[in-house]
Amino acid sequence: MAVTTYSGAEQYNFDIVKKFAVMSLVWAVIGMFVGVYIASELAWPFLNFDSPYFSFGRFRPVHTTSVIFGFGGSALFATSYYVVQRTCQTRLISDGMASFTFWGWMAIIVLADISYVLGYTQSREYAEMEWPIDLLIEVVWVTYLILFVGTIMRRKQPHIYVANWFYLAFILATALLHTFNNLAMPIDLFSMKSYSLFAGTQDAMTQWWYGHNAVGFFLTAAFLGMMYYFVPKQAGRPIYSYRLSIVHFWALGFMYMWVGAHHLHWTALPDWTSSLAAAFSILLLMPSWGGMINGIMTLSGAWDKLRTDPVMRFMIVALSF
Ligand code: HEM
Repeated sequence: MAVTTYSGAEQYNFDIVKKFAVMSLVWAVIGMFVGVYIASELAWPFLNFDSPYFSFGRFRPVHTTSVIFGFGGSALFATSYYVVQRTCQTRLISDGMASFTFWGWMAIIVLADISYVLGYTQSREYAEMEWPIDLLIEVVWVTYLILFVGTIMRRKQPHIYVANWFYLAFILATALLHTFNNLAMPIDLFSMKSYSLFAGTQDAMTQWWYGHNAVGFFLTAAFLGMMYYFVPKQAGRPIYSYRLSIVHFWALGFMYMWVGAHHLHWTALPDWTSSLAAAFSILLLMPSWGGMINGIMTLSGAWDKLRTDPVMRFMIVALSF
């Protein structure tokens, strides 16, 4: 029987990986340039030029959105699409959906940055976008979820490699966080202005439940997914402990959800709530160190690579931080 062989390009959709990877670098440059500008404004306030369009308050979310969602987010889209295809040995289920997530995500960051400069914000940290942009995020994100889960379901490998677990937790948790944190009522259909469904203490609680978990799932869990594929690959060694990766995955997912209220000590929030959050934050040290130790120890037997491989050096520094 004839055996069909595919070249890498036919077998996998690497085009989407490249697009997101390139845009990740572009957003890094834009985001950090704005970071330097707002830092300079703090040192030399005349850089506000007495204009609202140049004010620190409007540029700050341009910086955070561009670096977190533009730079970090694009890197996560790129690597998740790469890893899920390689570890499941199958192509993404739809090139069209992949392309939609790319253009959609880019449009979201551009629209968000422009809207902040024009003065539109819902004043929720890391979720400053007003409601029309939030709706667009919802559509793009659900497409991402369907694409990722659909690809896993079509896998040729019976096992779901642990990196995909981390990416999936990130996609699911972000969907949950984004939806509830942004429940709002626009003042009318043709206005960008909206009011949150939450008020007072509940509002603060919801914001920091979102804010901290955005760090937990967007900036931690997903980057751990990246680590679990690329560190063993670069080291040419298996993960130090696959069991530890599963244990700290569940511990991380369970504990992160409780810790948001540690941003609200000595506020109108009941004391027990922020104390509980503080206790869980301390416990979170364990799963957090679990990932770090697992990554670093993957180098057992390959420490010499640190002398010769610059990529490995960057990875180890990143892991330690
Ligand atoms: C050239 C590099 C960078 C510079 C000069 C810079 C500068 C700044 C400045 C001045 C602030 C505002 C601080 C304030 O409100 O008092 C800020 C906030 C922030 N930046 Fe950057 N930044 C840089 C790179 C990054 C990168 C790479 C990331 C993440 C990928 C990042 C994430 C953040 C976050 C999350 C905040 C909000 C912090 C908070 O509210 O506690 N920045 N940055």
